[in-house]
Amino acid sequence: VEWTDAERSAIAGLWGKISVDEMGPQALARLLIVFPWTQRHFASFGNLSSPAAIMGNPKVAAHGKTVMGGLDRAVKNLDNIKATYAQLSKLHSEKLHVDPDNFVLLADCITVCVAMKFGPSVFTADVQEAWQKFLCVVVAALRRQYH
Ligand code: HEM
Repeated sequence: VEWTDAERSAIAGLWGKISVDEMGPQALARLLIVFPWTQRHFASFGNLSSPAAIMGNPKVAAHGKTVMGGLDRAVKNLDNIKATYAQLSKLHSEKLHVDPDNFVLLADCITVCVAMKFGPSVFTADVQEAWQKFLCVVVAALRRQYH
């Protein structure tokens, strides 16, 4: 993947504004509400019976922070995302058996949450282009160890 200087600075700039502790829980909760089949992987998280239960569930919030925090490594290794996520891809494939199509759904939930948080003055078309390209590369890297 080639990154322009403008894309690099758009991604770094947006990431610098994102609070992992705020956006992570929102994005994971959105995934579990909008795409309820993803709940099957989180049976151990307790009550996921309604949107309110999901949004108030501390295990969802904690795991949302973990997942979103995981993006930090990709932001810091833009030129090497595949290798950076090799182990994480293996984990989701071989151990967790997460259908890789779900990565796109979570990526889109993250984008929606970020767009809602920052609005069009910060999340401009150019920033959105760079951000979605970034998440696309992240998703491709996570898919990589599936066979
Ligand atoms: C665990 C990142 C998508 C299900 C994790 C961990 C990270 C992570 C960093 C912790 C790994 C560790 O403990 O070493 C990501 C990223 C994603 C993504 C960056 C996409 C952008 C998904 C999706 C699902 C999922 C879509 C399911 C629908 C899980 C589960 C665990 C996990 C079940 C283990 C939870 C536990 O019991 O601790 N993920 N993940 N992940 N992920 Fe993902």
